[in-house]
Amino acid sequence: MKEGRDIIAESPAFLSALTLAHKVAESCSNVLITGESGTGKEIIAQYIHAHSPRSQRNFVALNCAAIPDHLLESELFGYTRGAFTGAHTNKVGLFEEAEGGTLFLDEIADLEISLQAKILRVLQERKIKRLGENTLRPINIRIIAATHENLNRAVQAKKFREDLFFRLNVIGINVPSLRDRSEDILPLAKHFVEKFSAANSKKIFGLTPAATDYLLKQVWPGNVRELENRIERAVVLSNNSHIEVEDLHPQATMNSQQKQNTLKFMRERVCDNIAHILSIDEMTHLYIEYALSLNKGAKEKTARDLGIDRKTLYRKLGKRHPTL
Ligand SMILES: Nc1ncnc2c1ncn2[C@@H]1O[C@H](COP(=O)(O)OP(=O)(O)OP(=O)(O)O)[C@@H](O)[C@H]1O
Ligand SMILES: [Mg+2]
Repeated sequence: MKEGRDIIAESPAFLSALTLAHKVAESCSNVLITGESGTGKEIIAQYIHAHSPRSQRNFVALNCAAIPDHLLESELFGYTRGAFTGAHTNKVGLFEEAEGGTLFLDEIADLEISLQAKILRVLQERKIKRLGENTLRPINIRIIAATHENLNRAVQAKKFREDLFFRLNVIGINVPSLRDRSEDILPLAKHFVEKFSAANSKKIFGLTPAATDYLLKQVWPGNVRELENRIERAVVLSNNSHIEVEDLHPQATMNSQQKQNTLKFMRERVCDNIAHILSIDEMTHLYIEYALSLNKGAKEKTARDLGIDRKTLYRKLGKRHPTL
């Protein structure tokens, strides 16, 4: 089935998630979408919005993990001029931008606890106050939240408010991992070949039988996003009419120079200088420092290179420096 322009769904597991999404689209209940990274949580959220009576209004997405905690509140609530140092103008927040439409709160498990309380109040009262203002403004939005983490566990660990969890999880949709819906692999691959061939003005018509077999045998820990990236790269590199197995091998993450640098660093900074084996945390800290130095301190790029979000990078750097 090709749903709308972009959603490919063949497997019973994904079709049933999509059917549920279709059913809830009509209502304005909050929805919590769970699933591993890259499974299609955002695409499902967009699908719900597009099939809802709110579709003519905004779909506003916020990745809670990508913005530092102290900026999240002003991003969401907006502010008036002079509300804090640097607030030179009035700013409408995302709650207001999503008026009449849908606010998609991605990576909700990363919300710090004080902001969880503030969001809970908005959901209860359906009103917001911009920072630095006393006026309450009524809002009419639907919230769709998503996370790749186990929120039940976060609630038990007291990292996520139970009352907010219940408010968000009125309807829960779990997006299955790609290894639990292998029927989707080839239709998705075909779709991505078409998409990236068109985008790169290439005449590639599909995959060889060996390439097809290869795709079916992969594990796909990064799910659809990984498959998509792998096909994009294959399309860009291929000079043939069909994608071959060789085009599909994962990219080596380091070139040989980087590998040499890393080994030298490991030997000099770690192995030659320690009398004990480093803990994983100490090792992680050192490695992040190394990656940061390669990127001349650029945290955004470093986080991307390391395959973690910026918030995780900050958190890990916040740990005590290992004493060597
Ligand atoms: N069923 C699908 N059909 C077509 N494209 C898909 C499908 N599912 C996912 N994709 C594509 O795969 C990529 C990842 O999807 P999406 O961003 O929705 O996943 P996610 O679960 O939100 O990932 P993350 O946890 O990394 O944020 C996107 O580029 C999306 O367009
Ligand atoms: Mg996402």
